Amino acid sequence: MKSKIKIKNLHKAFGSKKVLYGVSLEVQQAESLVIIGPSGTGKSVLIKNILGLIAPDKGEIYIDGIETTHLSERKREPFYKQMGMLFQGGALFDSLSVWENVAFGLMEAQHMPIDQARKEAEKYLESVGLSKSIAEQYPADLSGGMKKRVSLARAIAIKPEILFFDEPTTGLDPVMAETINQLIVKSVKKLGATAVTITHDIKSATTIADRIAMLYDGRIVWEGTKDEFLKTKDPYIVQMKTGATKGPIGN
Ligand SMILES: Nc1ncnc2c1ncn2[C@@H]1O[C@H](COP(=O)(O)OP(=O)(O)O)[C@@H](O)[C@H]1O
Ligand SMILES: [Mg+2]
Repeated sequence: MKSKIKIKNLHKAFGSKKVLYGVSLEVQQAESLVIIGPSGTGKSVLIKNILGLIAPDKGEIYIDGIETTHLSERKREPFYKQMGMLFQGGALFDSLSVWENVAFGLMEAQHMPIDQARKEAEKYLESVGLSKSIAEQYPADLSGGMKKRVSLARAIAIKPEILFFDEPTTGLDPVMAETINQLIVKSVKKLGATAVTITHDIKSATTIADRIAMLYDGRIVWEGTKDEFLKTKDPYIVQMKTGATKGPIGN
């Protein structure tokens, strides 16, 4: 096994509010890690640090064995170019059509000619169960589930080595959520990518994950395989699964 992402003792505060204090975590190549935890615990902040969108106060982030937080912007670029991201809420460009959204990274970062990019976009739309007849539509015309599919197509179209999914099923009905979970599993496997998914949805976590880590109170409080997750009596995980108000969370 090869380490793809390794985080050591990461700290991040916003003013006096300490969000992450001492997060350590490792993701192997082609592994699917899911990070769970209640809302507001710093899950999005953690992946924004890995993506280089936020600078940590302290700690190290290794990608393919290279520490990235201290690199110049120019030296960091190749690392970030191999990452695909499905943001919370989808974050499609409203002024671009569906196919232009999916082809955006291909044309901007990879300088693919427009005709070829459109063909690629249509191929990825089909791979997430969308007909190419919607290629000319705009995000405002789409349902929530369709927007998620378009966002997923956009994230995978650049064939990233690492994929991040931030709350991919939030706001979807249970059937659509399960469809998106399965599309994520299928797409990640097909690419052979390393995947990091954030969710507070336990069903989503157990569908997507090889391994699960729980973030709480600024640290990773539990980590294990999916099987260990299903069996553990750890009080944090038990409370996360049952939604009980009594336990270590929220006291
Ligand atoms: N850019 C920012 N400036 C100030 N506070 C922030 C910023 N981003 C996140 N926070 C705060 O950090 C905490 C964790 O946020 P977040 O990572 O979004 O939580 P979640 O686990 O729900 O994804 C929250 O209290 C949030 O308000
Ligand atoms: Mg979040």
